[in-house]
This record gives sequence, C-alpha cells and structure tokens, in this order.
Amino acid sequence: ELTVHHDPAELARVTRALQATGRTVHLVPTMGALHRGHLELIRRARDVNAVVVVSIFVNPLQFGPNEDYDRYPRSFSDDVEACRQAGVGLIFAPGVEDMYPPGRQLSVQAGPLGDELEGATREGHFDGVLTVVLKLLNIVRPDLAFFGEKDYQQLTLIRKMAREFDLDTRIQGIPTIRESDGLALSSRNAYLSEEQRASALVLSAALAAGAHAGGRGPRAVLEAAREVLATEPAVEVDYLDLRDPELGPAPQEGEARLLVAAKVGSTRLIDNAKVLLG
Ligand code: PAJ
Repeated sequence: ELTVHHDPAELARVTRALQATGRTVHLVPTMGALHRGHLELIRRARDVNAVVVVSIFVNPLQFGPNEDYDRYPRSFSDDVEACRQAGVGLIFAPGVEDMYPPGRQLSVQAGPLGDELEGATREGHFDGVLTVVLKLLNIVRPDLAFFGEKDYQQLTLIRKMAREFDLDTRIQGIPTIRESDGLALSSRNAYLSEEQRASALVLSAALAAGAHAGGRGPRAVLEAAREVLATEPAVEVDYLDLRDPELGPAPQEGEARLLVAAKVGSTRLIDNAKVLLG
C-alpha cells in the first residue's frame, strides 16, 4: 500500500522507523510528470527487502529566471497511480515552503564542473540540484539512491557530492531509456510539436554516429556527430563535447562520454552516450 507524505519531518520518521525494523530504503528523486525513464529507475530500485521512496518535487532552485518552472508539466494524480502500479511504498511530495522555509540562506556549490556544459548556459542550475538532492538524502537517508544517465552531468556531480561530503547513501546510475526511434525519454518532450520531435531525432542519431566512429579517435567522433547534427537546421546546437567518464578532458583512448545539448524551437534537449576510443 502506497502512502503519500508532504511533511519532511514525518517522512523522515517513517523511513527511520522502517530502517530500525531491518528494511532498506531506496530513493528515486523526480520532478514528477513520470514517464518510462522514471519507471525504469523505480523498477531497478525494487528489491525484496527494500521500500521504494519516490520524491516528487519541482525544485524552483534549479530553474533560472527565464526557464520553464511555471509551465513545467505537473500530473500529480497520474504520477501517484503510476507509482502505485510500480510497487512504490512511499511518495514524498513536499510543498515549496516545506523544503525552503522563508529565510533560508545556504546552498551547495557545485564547483567548477557546475559552470561547464549545462552550467555554462544554466547559471546556478547545479547548485540548485545539489542543494535539493542533499536535502532529500538527509530527509530520507536512503541506502541507495537512483539517478538516470540521461542527465549525465547531474549524475556525475551527485556522485562527486556524495564522495566529497562523505554521504552514506550509495549512488546508482541507470542507463537512458529511449523511444524505439532513439529519442531519449524526457518530461520536456511534451513541449515538442510532431515536426520538432522528428527534428530532435538528430541528437541521438549524432551520438550514435559519434560512438560508431570511436575507433578512429576523438576528432573523428566529434566530426561524425557534428555532420549528423548539421543535417537538421531546426536544431540549434548549444554544445557537443567529448569528455572522460568523470567529465574531465577527453582521453585519446579508452572510455569517453559524448554529450550534446540543443534547442528545438524553445525547448532545450540534452542527450549523451558512451564512446570507446580506439
Ligand atoms: P527529473 O527530470 O524528473 O528526472 C528524475 C530522474 O529520472 C533523474 O535521475 C533523471 O536522470 C532520470 N531520467 C529522466 N529521463 C530518463 C530516461 N530517459 N532514462 C533514464 N533515466 C531518466 O532530474 C531531475 O528530475 C531533478 O534534477 C532531480 C534529480 C529530481 C532534482 O530535482
């Protein structure tokens, strides 16, 4: 049976009580508008002895002043039903005032990586993400927390925070869930017209082309991906970058990560893929 909690103190009491009886607690943080990507995280979080907690909170701190906080898709009753069917035990759905009482002053600083890639155009975004994730981890105190590789820089920074701040929770990354044509599932896909959705396919196609060129080295990867992106004038590329798996400078060989961000109309989309450099 699924229960919904809004109050952080109450949710904290429940998860600690569960842990005192020997259950493990697995957390899947979300901003709601749940799709198959989120459901895959939930599926992976399920385990015989574990209670799955899904948090649903559209975090104002991680949206810039000209971003889509107000029009971000919200579908709470559908989300609750999807969680029920997926075997979730607890939903944590705090209000903004529950998470951020008036007068709050501190936030986590994401450091230099927080200003690169996504952070270069979304100032303060990762400070907002890390602040809310730290709060969620402290409220729920999960044994494991699940995050998608879809938001690869977010996952990398959360791992960094867990390491540098000595958090107890283990961070589990989950591969990106895609439509059958390659488009990465995202709540923001709901903003795309049919035509824009077709254009957006160049993102995953470019990553696939880049990954395919891995054996020919880093320059060939970027060229192959860039060539595919150039076939779609409706897609305005913000960055295409090749990095090492921790998002440091790209190596000459071995594992690397190819990341892309682009605007299709007014919708900003991101995607990434693993590349093996030969
Ligand atoms: P949200 O965009 O709702 O995503 C919640 C989680 O689902 C994230 O870990 C994200 O990487 C994962 N996810 C989204 N699309 C996915 C896909 N196609 N395949 C696999 N996983 C996918 O990311 C956030 O919310 C927020 O920044 C949050 C971490 C909740 C902090 O506010």
